[in-house]
Amino acid sequence: MEKRICGKSGIGLSAMGLGCWSYGGGDYWGPQSQQDVDAVAQAALDHGINFFDTAEGYNDGRSEEALGNALKGRRHEAKIGTKISANNTEPTVLREHCEASLRRLQTDYIDIYMVHWPIAEHSVADAFATLNALKAEGKIRSIGVSNFGVQQLSEALATGVQIDVNQLCYNLLSRAIEVEILPLCLEHEIGIFGYMPLMQGILTGIYRTADEIPHVHARFRHFRGDRPRAGHGEAGAEAEMFEAIDGIRALAASEGIPMSRLALAWAMAKPGITCVLVGTRNLSELHENVQVTGLSLSAEMIGQLDALTEPLLQKLGSNADYFLAKRTR
Ligand SMILES: NC(=O)c1ccc[n+]([C@@H]2O[C@H](COP(=O)([O-])OP(=O)(O)OC[C@H]3O[C@@H](n4cnc5c(N)ncnc54)[C@H](OP(=O)(O)O)[C@@H]3O)[C@@H](O)[C@H]2O)c1
Repeated sequence: MEKRICGKSGIGLSAMGLGCWSYGGGDYWGPQSQQDVDAVAQAALDHGINFFDTAEGYNDGRSEEALGNALKGRRHEAKIGTKISANNTEPTVLREHCEASLRRLQTDYIDIYMVHWPIAEHSVADAFATLNALKAEGKIRSIGVSNFGVQQLSEALATGVQIDVNQLCYNLLSRAIEVEILPLCLEHEIGIFGYMPLMQGILTGIYRTADEIPHVHARFRHFRGDRPRAGHGEAGAEAEMFEAIDGIRALAASEGIPMSRLALAWAMAKPGITCVLVGTRNLSELHENVQVTGLSLSAEMIGQLDALTEPLLQKLGSNADYFLAKRTR
């Protein structure tokens, strides 16, 4: 598996990482057995996948716990990224929460510690100074952010603290970061972790209409704002989304590969992307997803995929908060 350096950190990460949101089980993703987490983590390491992405907020800390258990004995082979929730960034609280993450992960250092969602401007200086202190103490190796837009990333950079990564939603149907955020990250040598590369399963191609998609995955700005779990209040772009999906499905069929593999290969091939985080819940998903390493997309194929998804990008615009529309500026 290809390794890429994360920002200016010197830390080498596999171009595909494991998204651990479902680990520990919970309301959003349903049950998740530790046996599957153990098997996926071990096999991922065997395949050269060394990056594992979690957060204190995933399943009330159970994702970190499950990952810590799964990496027992092989921690040194892995790079762990975890995230502090935005409302826990006051200096004393941040320190306590970092210690709690370390305990759950059964480790004495976090490789990449990210601020999960943007924080108020008046809190930025204290929060990033605290993160820098944790780095100097060796508790974290590198500082990152997540879901930060141009204004928020600029505020964080103005503190002078080195930021190595911005973790953002990025997939064929969600290309907002290409407009402004990705160019700013490139300019400052900040890596990008692309999350939701399969749009939570929608880019596997199994759904033909928006009504077939479970409510929990039909909450994004792509969908009508009156769908049960949506909280963004926008009109959505369901027609453009399914036109794009139909086109991608046809291209994948013409190549004789699963649509999910095409979607992952596209994201991994894009400039500026350090690591693509795939939520992988069992060995059969892992074994399929690692097949992407044998797939190199031609410039023509990437161009075709870009063209198919361009109308959706135009409709949804440069707002990278696909959940609620208002947090990323
Ligand atoms: N920073 C943030 O705010 C943020 C937000 C979202 C996600 N993330 C991170 O990004 C990671 C990935 O995002 P995500 O998990 O939300 O979405 P995703 O990676 O787009 O989709 C993951 C889901 O797709 C299905 N899947 C995976 N491989 C498959 C395959 N080969 N064939 C068929 N289905 C497959 C699985 O669902 P089933 O097995 O249930 O069908 C899996 O749970 C998360 O785990 C998390 O670490 C970060």
